[in-house]
Amino acid sequence: MDTRGGFSSRLGFILAAAGSAVGLGNIWGFPTQVASNGGGAFVLVYIFLTFLLAYPVLMAELIIGRAAQSNIVTALEEVSESKTNIFGTWIKKVSQGIGFWGVLTASLILSFYAIVAGWMIAFAVAPIANLLGLSYLAEWLTSFSASRNLLFCLLFYLLTMSIVQRGVRAGIERWSRRLMPLLLLIIVVLIVYVATLEGAIAGWSLYLKPDFSRVFDSSLLISAMGQAFFSLSLGVGTMLIYGSYISKKENLPKLGVAVTFVDIGIAILAGLLIIPAMFVAEHNGVQIYTTAGQLLSEDTLLFTVLPALFSTMGLAGYIVAIVFFILMTIAALTSSISMLEVPVALAVERHSVARKKATWLIGLVIFLVSVFIIYNFGELFGLVIAITTKYSEPLIGLLLCVFVGWIWRRDLLLKEIKQGFSDVETGIFWLIWPFYVRFICPLIIAVVFYNRII
Ligand code: PHE
Repeated sequence: MDTRGGFSSRLGFILAAAGSAVGLGNIWGFPTQVASNGGGAFVLVYIFLTFLLAYPVLMAELIIGRAAQSNIVTALEEVSESKTNIFGTWIKKVSQGIGFWGVLTASLILSFYAIVAGWMIAFAVAPIANLLGLSYLAEWLTSFSASRNLLFCLLFYLLTMSIVQRGVRAGIERWSRRLMPLLLLIIVVLIVYVATLEGAIAGWSLYLKPDFSRVFDSSLLISAMGQAFFSLSLGVGTMLIYGSYISKKENLPKLGVAVTFVDIGIAILAGLLIIPAMFVAEHNGVQIYTTAGQLLSEDTLLFTVLPALFSTMGLAGYIVAIVFFILMTIAALTSSISMLEVPVALAVERHSVARKKATWLIGLVIFLVSVFIIYNFGELFGLVIAITTKYSEPLIGLLLCVFVGWIWRRDLLLKEIKQGFSDVETGIFWLIWPFYVRFICPLIIAVVFYNRII
């Protein structure tokens, strides 16, 4: 354990795992989806799906990781060997393949995530340039160009790598402990500020009054499932490797609940900030609906509507803009370190590369992938996002359920959960979860996929 490192305490793990979970997905993705999918209805479906689907998969990852004490590839191999079966070495090869697929997905997610995170840094610097009277610089920072994308993406990689190279405790845990409380504080301050502005009430009511007619809309269900997986960082081995750094004394189902609550909580808080802010923007004359009457969403929201709002607020607007985009950068950073940890842990554990060297080498390779995306933005950016988040993550999530539900020996599974939770057999978790990951989760994910592909 010592040579691999590990979280120093329960809180250390919760903050790091919540740091991974809470990211652009919560503060940008979630409010955007709420705005374009019927407001409060989406919130309800999302919470429901998170507990129904994402929490069980999160538990699968944490338990596999802690049992195997290793990266996703080695861990799945071990699970596949736990039961002698007719498939023999064949299943071991498949497990390896799935593990590598997870590592590849984590790396590809990082490759687009770092580009977006770079924009956040640029937008945080732009108001400073404006304040200094460097308006041409501010213009460059906020306009789309390969040079800007490249520079700030690189900067973001440097931040990510400088944390990951320090290891689990001195890097990931320490920085999550510092950044997560700061993130919460900034969100709350911004919510209170925006709530005092005229127009905010309309946003609050869209957000808090669900339009129930949309709850069973299939596109809403699909979006909510994707969002739930992405938001809890599932299906790429991130939570698995974080699970492997948890002490054997901890109660895993409880830790999982804590992480899930923090993730949902911050998403909901982010909605309380972004959605009222959109309506304040509208009140100030900024366009938030398209001509077809749809809410503007995705990048227009963050990079057009909000800056337009900030610019109607005078001097305070500059400060709010800087603080807001710093918030986004922090959220992205505590997530990106968890993505990079996936391939780094693999290189360190399986190929005995020193952590520092592994971090810089792998970081460089993934950065080059980002560069490639930047120069082929129109064709690749959306494609990489769709492949990784819409297909790979839920599919690997499904396979992890199969591993835990069908391939892993049940006595070994129980033995692992019992560490730190000795009376698990008499509780509700053991009553529901094993059945759940065996039948219900794979079935629901498969059905959602089937609908999407048809
Ligand atoms: N959960 C992160 C977010 O919401 C994204 C992420 C996905 C992080 C996969 C790690 C692995 O932004």
